[in-house]
Amino acid sequence: MIETRIQVVDREQPDPAVIAEAADVLKRGGLVAFPTETVYGLGADALNVDAVRKVFQAKGRPSDNPMIVHFSSHAQLAELADEISKKGMMLAETFWPGPLTLVVDRTILVSEVVTGGLETVAVRMPDHPVALALIEALGSGIVGPSANLSTRPSPTTAIHVLEDLKGRIELILDAGPSDIGIESTVVDVTVDPPQILRLGGLTAEMIESVIGEVQIGRDDDRLKRSPGTRYRHYAPRARVVLIDQCDRERLEVLIQQYRQEGNQVGCIVHSGDLATVESSQFFHVLPSDTEFLARYLYRSLRELDQMKADVILVEKVREEGLGATVMDRLRKAARSTPDDA
Ligand code: TXA
Ligand code: MG
Repeated sequence: MIETRIQVVDREQPDPAVIAEAADVLKRGGLVAFPTETVYGLGADALNVDAVRKVFQAKGRPSDNPMIVHFSSHAQLAELADEISKKGMMLAETFWPGPLTLVVDRTILVSEVVTGGLETVAVRMPDHPVALALIEALGSGIVGPSANLSTRPSPTTAIHVLEDLKGRIELILDAGPSDIGIESTVVDVTVDPPQILRLGGLTAEMIESVIGEVQIGRDDDRLKRSPGTRYRHYAPRARVVLIDQCDRERLEVLIQQYRQEGNQVGCIVHSGDLATVESSQFFHVLPSDTEFLARYLYRSLRELDQMKADVILVEKVREEGLGATVMDRLRKAARSTPDDA
């Protein structure tokens, strides 16, 4: 067991001494969880294969599920990525730093351990001063899958990271809750039209407004291209059941039914119609604006899990804008078995 320390760090003006210490841990091949604008990432030196292997181990992540490499400068990007297509460059210029991950051809500097054997690598420049300072202090890219145990919802606070990875990593940099609260959008720009492999903080409309038509991968195709989408994901321990928007009757019936079966029932709703069904710690009312809802969704799922809910009833959201990403995650959380079991 490793002793896991939490170090608080200012989001806007990270203390250089703290960043230097964290970078030292990375230089020695250790693991540091770090904040980004989407969710917390689990960092290791991307050029140190042994350190990258430790990340797979700490998360319990299958080794064929490739990792995102985070970078902070164009010079670092050039070390990781071969030529990037024109559309890829347009997306990069518009959205970096930000919640965009591009799948591009990798250079020989990027190990197959990072890419799960693929010839491509996923890269992202995060929009977070602490993440950027850490990468700069290391001087090269850091891998950063979400800092949760495999299959669990991504962490949006340092405490979430601790819940999952205590004893498995050296350090957690705590800069407060993540702004976006949901992962980056992954776009494969090695194909034309580019293909969205995972919806995230950027919507399909935002991407299309820059480069025109994109594909949103068909399921079987997507599985080949983005191995991570094969596995169970974003799921709390509790069983997740989705309820149609504003369907108060169904919510009330299900609450009663699950309770009668002896379950502790948690609820996550957002519409005014459902907000008044109950008031208890197990009944979470999130903001109805999807941007805010996205920010608090994982936190809410984790809190209900901590409180030992057996079933979590979640109100669906309209699939517009970020709502499409939220529904993607909710559907995955509601699946009780791995897609490829
Ligand atoms: O917002 C985020 O993206 C967060 C923060 C920490 O940056 N990171 C994150 O990483 O969510 P992770 O590893 O949990 O998800 C990365 C996704 C996985 O679905 C993985 O399969 C896919 O990106 N991916 C990585 N490399 C790929 C590649 N070369 N080709 C296709 N998909 C890839
Ligand atoms: Mg993840």
